[in-house]
Amino acid sequence: MIRVNNLVKHYKRVQAVDGITFHVEEGDIFGFIGPNGAGKTTTIKMLATLLLPTSGSAQIGGYDVVSESDKVRQMLGYMPDYFGVYNDLKVWEYLDFFAAAYKIPRTRRVGIIDDVLVLTDLTVKKDAFVAELSKGMKQRLCLARTLIHNPKVLILDEPASGLDPRARIEMRELLKELKRMGKTVFISSHILTELSDFCNKVGIIEAGHMVVSGAVDEILQAVSQGQLVTLSVPAEQLEAAAAAAQRHAKVLNVETKGSTELEVHFDGHLDDLSELMQHMLAEGIKVRSMKESVNSLEDIFMKVTKGQVN
Ligand SMILES: Nc1ncnc2c1ncn2[C@@H]1O[C@H](COP(=O)(O)OP(=O)(O)OP(=O)(O)O)[C@@H](O)[C@H]1O
Ligand SMILES: [Mg+2]
Repeated sequence: MIRVNNLVKHYKRVQAVDGITFHVEEGDIFGFIGPNGAGKTTTIKMLATLLLPTSGSAQIGGYDVVSESDKVRQMLGYMPDYFGVYNDLKVWEYLDFFAAAYKIPRTRRVGIIDDVLVLTDLTVKKDAFVAELSKGMKQRLCLARTLIHNPKVLILDEPASGLDPRARIEMRELLKELKRMGKTVFISSHILTELSDFCNKVGIIEAGHMVVSGAVDEILQAVSQGQLVTLSVPAEQLEAAAAAAQRHAKVLNVETKGSTELEVHFDGHLDDLSELMQHMLAEGIKVRSMKESVNSLEDIFMKVTKGQVN
């Protein structure tokens, strides 16, 4: 659905996007992650046909963002990082304005507006002025607007920025709903945990370069060396258990957590973990449970980025 090939954008002095390549398939939820100034908004604006690339190419649904921008705009719902000022309009007028811009006939607009208001939970604000909405409601209205022409692809530039925890959760639920509706979603953020439970793919951009991209679980495998497991043991055996674990050849590091748990960094495949269990039992440790501590997107991010910005 989205194909980006060696895309470059140089401003006068800054090389904001420096040759990035990635693909997003139909139905993917692609998380575009990077620190401030990494080049996310610049990339997104090129995809949304609002900024001309310096070189390279990008297609959305097979259409080129430069030479077939009209076709691209039909396919695409773009939510900018900045909500423009439309304070004199009522919520429904705002949506009607955009629906008209997309040439949706007047007779169909009423029904469509009602639908997107229900989806974004703004029905009660239909007759309110945009200026009277809270920030979270404005973000949802902005998302409602991107849905008005029923686009297949959504490109959202930090849709949850500046929202309180509840509003973030609501935004996340809304995005999950869009996923269920079969939309392809490209979403940027610098808050990783926000994306981890519904993105199936991520790309991490830093200083204009895509550091890593692909399926979340594949990336996790590639960047994480070995396994992190938590063993639960009887409190009186904690010290002995730590010493026993340390004696296993594939154990890199052991740390105690509280009075009954050990966190063990095991340099082996997941399937080799039974070796560790056997070793502990053979050493006389009454292991109560063993569970994998999953590396999070946050861990990937810290491992692959170096903290450099343009
Ligand atoms: N219009 C512009 N003219 C010159 N430089 C720009 C312009 N817009 C962005 N830049 C520079 O390009 C780089 C990337 O900016 P961009 O806005 O794409 O980053 P971002 O990843 O979206 O950051 P944030 O997380 O803060 O939104 C930055 O160094 C920025 O200063
Ligand atoms: Mg940005």
